[in-house]
Amino acid sequence: MACITRTPGPPPSSSLLSRLLLAFLLLVDLAAAYAELSDDVLRGIPSAGSDFDIKTGALLAPILIPRVPGTDNSLFVQHHFIDFFKSQLPEWTLEIHNSTSKTPGTGDREVPFANLILRRDPPWAAPGDVSRLTLVAHYDTLSKPEGFIGATDSAAPCAVLMHAARSIEDALAKKWAAMAENGEGGTGLEEEKGVQILLLDGEEAFVSWSSTDSLYGARALAKDWETQFYPAASTFKSPLQSISLFVLLDLLGARNPWPRIPSYFLTTHWAYQGMAKIEKRMRDLKLLQSVPPRGRSVFLPDSKKPAANFGGSYIEDDHIPFMARGVNILHLIPSPFPDQWHHSQGIPDDGEHLDIGAVDDWAKIVTAFTAEWMELGEYLPKAPPEKRDATSSKTEL
Ligand SMILES: *[C@@H]1O[C@H](CO)[C@@H](O)[C@H](O)[C@H]1NC(C)=O
Repeated sequence: MACITRTPGPPPSSSLLSRLLLAFLLLVDLAAAYAELSDDVLRGIPSAGSDFDIKTGALLAPILIPRVPGTDNSLFVQHHFIDFFKSQLPEWTLEIHNSTSKTPGTGDREVPFANLILRRDPPWAAPGDVSRLTLVAHYDTLSKPEGFIGATDSAAPCAVLMHAARSIEDALAKKWAAMAENGEGGTGLEEEKGVQILLLDGEEAFVSWSSTDSLYGARALAKDWETQFYPAASTFKSPLQSISLFVLLDLLGARNPWPRIPSYFLTTHWAYQGMAKIEKRMRDLKLLQSVPPRGRSVFLPDSKKPAANFGGSYIEDDHIPFMARGVNILHLIPSPFPDQWHHSQGIPDDGEHLDIGAVDDWAKIVTAFTAEWMELGEYLPKAPPEKRDATSSKTEL
């Protein structure tokens, strides 16, 4: 991760009017298709619990090692992801997108970069007809300082995405089975909606951040996806075009300072608002563990940001090569960065410095957001409010 860039105008060149219009159209589209999850469904969204333990957690612990591209550690972590999906989520397809590049830190050697693409499409749909909610984090780490772990950057976000995938799988399978049975699947009347997870390699610079020394995996993938064409009669031209929203998680799971995630892009502010509403509802229902300090109440405080205040300031990260090709981006990265970012204040970005409660909260928020997007409310487990005992309800009266 990344440096802050201020640009004179909004990143993809388009007039404010067309951006507003697009946002409006998306909003209308969203309102038509979108049913909010009920309180009982939000209560039923599972916590990752001990799977996020930093020493023994089945999801998180194996990622908390240095993961420099091209090293055995990097392969080990790739296998952790692959084994998880193969054994627990066999319906998700796996593709490894390979590329190589020289870097300013590694001389003439071609360093290999492997992006993992985990995908779940409706079973009846042709690949070119599916619009995909795309959840993204990078798994590589800085090569210096030696031994850098990158717990917030981005081990915890990777674990969050694994948890989200497994938490929606049963409902997704049930929904699609019901649709197939009712003859609603593959009628061509409705948009085919899928979901994919990109675990990207080579986000970090080897020497110092620049357009050529950073984002190795993301740049190669965006370029390849732009020219990988689906058959001519498909709804979408390319895997790039089939991305409905690119949700990038980075630097999440820290306690200090309290994470404040701005809304960076007017074009996707509606999606930000959707996620912020989920966070607020989950906090009000007491489903989240992180405790905001005085003066703060949420991770996502920008829902009311006026359109005029979207000035085109954003943070360079894995979304850049996709955004440059017109993909809609929701960037979940705090500003300012966490204190442990890149070990720049002497605080290591390791497991011990994570706020596991916050990591678990992100897992729930992202799961709920994905479930709402995929319209799984009917198929998810419901947890009614816990009954209070007679004494406590009496005191309240
Ligand atoms: C990428 O490399 C891996 C081995 O590291 C291989 O298994 C996989 O098939 C390759 N993917 C493609 C699309 O060639």
